[in-house]
This record gives sequence, structure tokens and C-alpha cells, in this order.
Amino acid sequence: MKTLKAWDVPIRLFHWILVASILVSWYTVKTSGEPLLFPIEWHARAGYTILVLLVFRWSWSIVGSRHARLRALLRSPRVVARYAAGWFRRHPDRYVGHNPLGGWMTLLLLLSLSLQVTSGLVMSDEVLFTAPLAGKLGGRLEEILVALHHWNGNALFVLVGIHLAAIVLHRLRGEALVVAMVTGRKRLSGAVKDGENQPVSGWRAWAVAALAVAVLVAILEWA
Ligand code: HEM
Ligand code: HEM
Repeated sequence: MKTLKAWDVPIRLFHWILVASILVSWYTVKTSGEPLLFPIEWHARAGYTILVLLVFRWSWSIVGSRHARLRALLRSPRVVARYAAGWFRRHPDRYVGHNPLGGWMTLLLLLSLSLQVTSGLVMSDEVLFTAPLAGKLGGRLEEILVALHHWNGNALFVLVGIHLAAIVLHRLRGEALVVAMVTGRKRLSGAVKDGENQPVSGWRAWAVAALAVAVLVAILEWA
């Protein structure tokens, strides 16, 4: 058994703040939102947090550490098929970062979350709350985005369900993925297909985080 670096601090923080924000986001639109006074305001705040997280994560997929990069998420259909076939034979290739299916799943989650946050910016509850771009984009486009917010909001539930089911399946096969998302390290035996993560300088993470916050401030100030 070897203990290998899998996820850097930025990815782990990204993930767990995202989970907390999604829970707030769902709670505030799918329940009465008690004891919060204006649940929709909290829904929007959770959404803005997710917007910052996503700008960070997309940027990190270009300038971040090895396992966060787009190249590590976008594996060819041949590599995905090989992984899937190995999984059914109970002999899948081993990866320290995302496995090929997990990479595509990550991409789907990030895309769906991005659609949700973007479409959220034109929403209103028709009583007290109007998002920064509500009423500013014009009829048809806005209608489409509102429909998307409702439709994709449900699709996101399904994707997260599949995400959690996959993690349980891996656990049943003895892979402690959640532990790795907490500690940043995976214990693996035998050969791995990708290799250890290569963290990049903390300053780069701060610079990307500052950019992500600046994008939110720009939207809130100038929209
Ligand atoms: C990833 C982030 C987000 C998620 C997961 C999310 C999810 C949802 C869901 C599931 C609904 C209910 C749709 C339905 O019942 O059909 C909803 C409604 C809504 N969302 Fe979001 N949303 C997000 C971001 C945002 C943002 C950034 C804003 C605004 C700044 C926003 C504003 C609204 C509004 C105003 C409603 C309508 C509430 C009503 O009809 O009373 N959302 N959202
Ligand atoms: C609530 C909604 C959730 C969303 C939207 C979500 C989203 C994501 C995303 C986008 C990634 C990719 C990480 C990256 O490369 O940036 C990821 C990975 C991961 N998530 Fe979640 N997640 C959610 C809940 C959870 C929960 C509740 C758990 C654990 C109990 C969990 C455990 C993991 C693990 C272990 C990975 C790494 C998977 C791997 O090793 O390939 N997630 N999640």
C-alpha cells in the first residue's frame, strides 16, 4: 500500500463549500425555509457563493494542480470504455485523481451547476426578490433561462444522486473516496494510471480566488 497525494487544499475546500451551499440553496426553495426570515435571499447568497466557486474551479481547471486540470477530466472514449469494462470484471485501472468516468461526471456536474447559477441571475420570485439581471435581457431569452432554472434544478438533483450512488459503489469495492476528499490522500496498492497530484503554489490559488470574487462583485455592482 502507498499513500499518494490526490487532491490539493483548493479542490477540497471547493468541494465542501459547494456541498454546504447546495444544501442551503435546496433548503431555501424546496421547504418553507424556516427559521430564515427571507429564504429566497439566502438562496441567492448560496447561489453567489457557488458562482465564485465555479469561476474558481473553471480557472483551476486551466492553471491548477494536475488532477484538477481539464486534461485529467476529459479522457478519450477508448480509455472510458476500458475503465468501464475493467470495472465489470472487478479489475478496473487504478487512478489517484478522477477515474475516466468520474472525470466526465465532474464535467457534467460543473456544467449543470454553471447553467443553474447563470440562469439564477435572471430569476425573480415575483414578490420581494429580483436577481441582478432580471428584466434586463429581454423576453424570449429570459423565458428560456427561467425555464432552464426550473428544469436544470431538477436535473441537478438527479446528477447529485448518481454522484452519491457512485461513491457508495466505490466504497463497496473498498475505495475510500470520501476520506481522500477530506484528507487529500489516497491509499492504493499496485500500479496507478495517472500518478500523484502535483500541487501548485498557494499564491496562484489566492490570485484565482481573488479573480472569482472580482467577477461576482462586478456582476452585483454593474448589472
Ligand atoms: C447552483 C445554484 C442554484 C441552485 C442549485 C438553484 C436551485 C433552484 C431550484 C431547485 C429552484 C426551484 C425551482 C422549482 O421549484 O421548479 C430555484 C428557484 C429560484 N432560484 Fe435558484 N438556484 C441556484 C442559484 C440561484 C441564483 C444565483 C439566484 C439569484 C440570484 C436564484 C434565484 C432563484 C429564484 C428567484 C427562484 C424562484 C423562487 C420562487 O419561485 O419563489 N437561484 N432555484
Ligand atoms: C451536494 C451536492 C454535491 C455536489 C454538487 C458535488 C459535486 C462534486 C464535484 C463537482 C466533484 C468534482 C471535484 C473536482 O474535481 O472539482 C465531486 C467530487 C467528489 N465528491 Fe461530491 N458533490 C456533492 C456531494 C457530495 C457528498 C455528500 C459527498 C460525500 C459524502 C461527496 C463526495 C465526493 C468525492 C469523494 C469526490 C471525489 C470523487 C473521485 O474520487 O473521483 N460529494 N463532487
